[in-house]
Amino acid sequence: MKIAPSILSADFAHLAAEIERMEKAGAHQLHVDVMDGHYVPNFTFGPMLVEAVRRCTQLPLDVHLMIENADRWIDTFVNAGADMIAVHPEALYHLHSTLQSIKKRGKQAGIALNPSTPLSTLDEILPYIDYIIIMSVNPGWGGQTFIEGSFDKARRVHQMVDEKGLQVVIQIDGGMTTERIPLAAKAGIDVAIAGSAIFKAPDPATTLREMIAAATLQ
Ligand code: DX5
Ligand code: ZN
Repeated sequence: MKIAPSILSADFAHLAAEIERMEKAGAHQLHVDVMDGHYVPNFTFGPMLVEAVRRCTQLPLDVHLMIENADRWIDTFVNAGADMIAVHPEALYHLHSTLQSIKKRGKQAGIALNPSTPLSTLDEILPYIDYIIIMSVNPGWGGQTFIEGSFDKARRVHQMVDEKGLQVVIQIDGGMTTERIPLAAKAGIDVAIAGSAIFKAPDPATTLREMIAAATLQ
C-alpha cells in the first residue's frame, strides 16, 4: 500500500521544504485538495499553486477537485502539472464526459465518493476510471475524525472491482493515522491519503516513514 501526504495540512509558508522532506522520506505521491467555497464551504488552492508544487517535486500529483463545474477546469489543471485528477460525481452533470476529458489528456481519471454517496454510483462508470477516492470524512477540511464504516465501504468497492475484472486503484481520504494503516491494507485499499496525521506531527518525516513501514508490513 502506498502513502500520499495531503499538503492541505502543510505549512504553506514553507511549502517547498515541506514537499522536499516528504519526497525524501519516501512519499509515493502527493495529494492536492482544491476547494472552491461552493461545492465545499472552504477555499484552498487553485491551478497556480498546483503549478508551483509541480516545480518542487517529481512525485505524481493527485489533484482532488472539490469544486463546482470541474469539467471547465480539467485542461487548466492538466496544464498546471496534475498527473491524476479526481472529481466528485455529485458536482457534475456529465461525469462520463468529464472523465473522458481527463483521459484524453493522458492523465489518470478518478472519482471521489462522499460518505453518503452510494456505491451504485459506480455501476456505469467503473470501466472508465483509473482510481476511486473513498472519502472517510466529509470533504472540506483536514483534521476531521475518521468515519467508521469507511473500510467496509472500501471492501465492497474492492469486491465490485474484482468481480468486473478491472484494475482500479482504491484510495482512502480523511482521518487516516498510522494505527489505521494496517486496517486499510486489510480492506484492500491501495493508497492511504494522510494530511494532519503527518504534517501536524512533531516530526512529519518520521511519521511518514512509520506509515510506510506499517503499510509494508502487510
Ligand atoms: C478533506 C480532504 C483531505 C484532507 C485529509 O476534504 O479531501 O484530503 O487533506 O486530511 P486529514 O488526513 O487531516 O483528514
Ligand atoms: Zn482530498
